Amino acid sequence: MIYATKITGTGSAYPAKRVTNGDLTKRLAELDVQTSDKWIQARTGIQERRYSDLSNPKESNASLAATAAMRALEMAGKTALDVDQIIVATCSPETNLPSIACFVQRDIGAVNSWAMDINAACSGFVYGLVTASQFINTDQIRTALVIGSEVLHPYLNWYDRSSCILFGDAAGAAVIEQVPVNNESKILNWYLSSDGRYANHLHIPACCPQDGDDDSCQEKNHETGHIVMNGREIFKLAVRRLTKMALTVTDKEGLSIKDLDWLVPHQANQRILEAVAQRLEIPIEKVLVNLDRFGNTSSATIPTVLDEAVRQGRIKSGQTLLLDAFGAGFTYGAMLVRW
Ligand code: ACO
Repeated sequence: MIYATKITGTGSAYPAKRVTNGDLTKRLAELDVQTSDKWIQARTGIQERRYSDLSNPKESNASLAATAAMRALEMAGKTALDVDQIIVATCSPETNLPSIACFVQRDIGAVNSWAMDINAACSGFVYGLVTASQFINTDQIRTALVIGSEVLHPYLNWYDRSSCILFGDAAGAAVIEQVPVNNESKILNWYLSSDGRYANHLHIPACCPQDGDDDSCQEKNHETGHIVMNGREIFKLAVRRLTKMALTVTDKEGLSIKDLDWLVPHQANQRILEAVAQRLEIPIEKVLVNLDRFGNTSSATIPTVLDEAVRQGRIKSGQTLLLDAFGAGFTYGAMLVRW
């Protein structure tokens, strides 16, 4: 291989509306569902999240994705015309077809690109980076936009207090470009896997025409069209697999956990992050976190927390980052990056 891939720009976009744990507690109380700020903070670390205004086209999944993409292009010093490929990772598109990626292409004017969505749930951004980088490394394309974008709150089951408190809406993007393989700054290594045996631990039962009378979908039960989650099992799997992947991918590159400057994990639960950091013996200060302010935004967690740290100047040239994600499926993805 004579080419490698480098992340040259990052960007994020969030809806304006903040929903604090207090707001959510009041909303759920109206449905006779009990929770509290204290419980949510203690068990998850989340303080607030953002919800899109569904009547505002600027806060649709596609619009948030396009805004994040433009910010990433600006940081990379590129225009939309430079983009060869757009991959949007999402599990909450507003249309089943066309893809969110095609809306992004239209909205930013990336007329020289081809676009597609992928769904690997919360691992989607890492899956997208790996996919796009294969086209770059084999010289099929030079520049790609990889976006993780979600408007998840319409999929929440307000009667399930263990899941509806977790999720929020956001988009994060990265511009990735071709560099010579001996470039210091590049994607170093990656690891992907999935395990469909655990599919039922986290799913959104579809409401599709095959179900018969589609008008009755919303009436069927609280689960149809909404997140169904086995939180306890996911928690255990997540800790085990995030830890194992971190060891696998660093080992593949001939590095050790001590060589990492930053762990950039999927933001699902502060207690998951702490358990993984403890098992890896990585100081918690080296773990990037934004779930306290945005909750779990699925495929958007890694690109948004990365973008925040880049813009704050915390991530510096030459540092080594480990992106570490798990999601419904189950899907797992880790990536080592030299910044
Ligand atoms: N408020 C108050 N009490 C609650 C709430 C709530 N919001 N939610 C659950 N409880 C109660 C339960 O009913 C239970 O009560 P009981 O003992 O009387 O039955 C008690 O709290 C303990 O419940 P657990 O489920 O054991 O709580 P746990 O500490 O495991 O926390 C949580 C639940 C936060 C869901 C945790 O298991 C978790 O974060 N799991 C991982 C979930 C996750 O990461 N999902 C996303 C995957 S990524 C993707 O692809 C989208």
